[in-house]
Amino acid sequence: MLDKIGEPGSSKATLFELIGGTDNIRALVERFYDIMDSDPRAAELRAVHTADLSSAREKLFMFLSGWTGGPQLYIERYGHPRLRMRHMPFPVDEAARDQWMYCMIKAMHDTGVDEAVIEKMGAALWGVADFMRNREG
Ligand code: HEM
Repeated sequence: MLDKIGEPGSSKATLFELIGGTDNIRALVERFYDIMDSDPRAAELRAVHTADLSSAREKLFMFLSGWTGGPQLYIERYGHPRLRMRHMPFPVDEAARDQWMYCMIKAMHDTGVDEAVIEKMGAALWGVADFMRNREG
């Protein structure tokens, strides 16, 4: 499937499909928060989250399911994500953005996402993470 990226007729493959569907999105999000929870390089990002990450795990899973082109679980439950507004209570600066991306890229590698898909998803998510910034620095 992955070797068809960019080939005629394959342009409709969603990131959701390229990652391998619901179970793989779930595994990716679990790995993402496990990394955030344990890797010193993500310590500042971890510190702005609550001790219990289970709600964050569930919400990011639901969000990414829809954002990648799969079932719109987050929107069905919570309505429009309005992510920038929802992140206003948390300080998001360049360091937080970069730590978020570090965890996500590492999680994609750790869960076996294909390199071409990591690049595609990483670039798209970087735009979202950068848009979330609400503090200088
Ligand atoms: C592409 C980048 C990001 C995406 C897609 C994303 C996604 C999400 C989603 C879907 C939620 C749940 C929102 C809700 O319903 O309340 C959330 C919560 C949160 N996000 Fe992000 N986020 C991103 C970047 C960041 C960054 C850079 C920070 C750094 C401070 C951050 C910190 C938080 C915190 C603290 C919560 C609350 C978690 C909880 O429920 O306990 N996020 N994020």
